[in-house]
Amino acid sequence: MAMAAAAAAAAAVLIFLLPTASAGAASRWGGERSTYMKLYWHDVVSGPDPTTVPVAQARVTRDSESGFGAVVVIDDALTEGPDRRSSRRLGRAQGIYVGAGKDEVSLLMAMTFVFQGGSRYNGSTLDVMGHNAVLHDVREMAIVGGTGVFRMARGYAQARSYTPVSNKPGDATVEYSLFIKH
Ligand SMILES: *[C@@H]1O[C@H](CO)[C@@H](O)[C@H](O)[C@H]1NC(C)=O
Repeated sequence: MAMAAAAAAAAAVLIFLLPTASAGAASRWGGERSTYMKLYWHDVVSGPDPTTVPVAQARVTRDSESGFGAVVVIDDALTEGPDRRSSRRLGRAQGIYVGAGKDEVSLLMAMTFVFQGGSRYNGSTLDVMGHNAVLHDVREMAIVGGTGVFRMARGYAQARSYTPVSNKPGDATVEYSLFIKH
């Protein structure tokens, strides 16, 4: 009797769970969300606690003036507002940029935005990659993938320098607008 009751209860649980589970799976795969997000990226080159490490530099030539051949590893803070110290921290941009422009200051960016903290994006990532001609007003890069909330992500990022840029290396704050489908 006890066993029959347990079996009936187990069956009831299964009947209850199964449709929910498959409906969840169906909407996760079938749906597509659009997310817009603006955040600020802080490249700290100077001072006691830089978030960039130059790992390679080409032999100095005339082309080196554009930074051609440099490889820099970054672990840059991402914040909600433009102030690196007082704005809410959203995560980190980890990856590299490469001086890829022979005749102009132009970077190849390859970085993962790693979301942290209390938001629903905590633990999720987005991969941003592309051509970044840093002296231009607006630079567009591809969002090529993601994890967590951003699984299957694609989209584009628009970068605008928040601090004035020069072709000399220095700290930089860049506003990133992200247009994501996931
Ligand atoms: C973010 O997620 C990690 C696990 O991935 C968890 O340990 C941490 O507590 C979360 N942070 C916040 C602020 O919720």
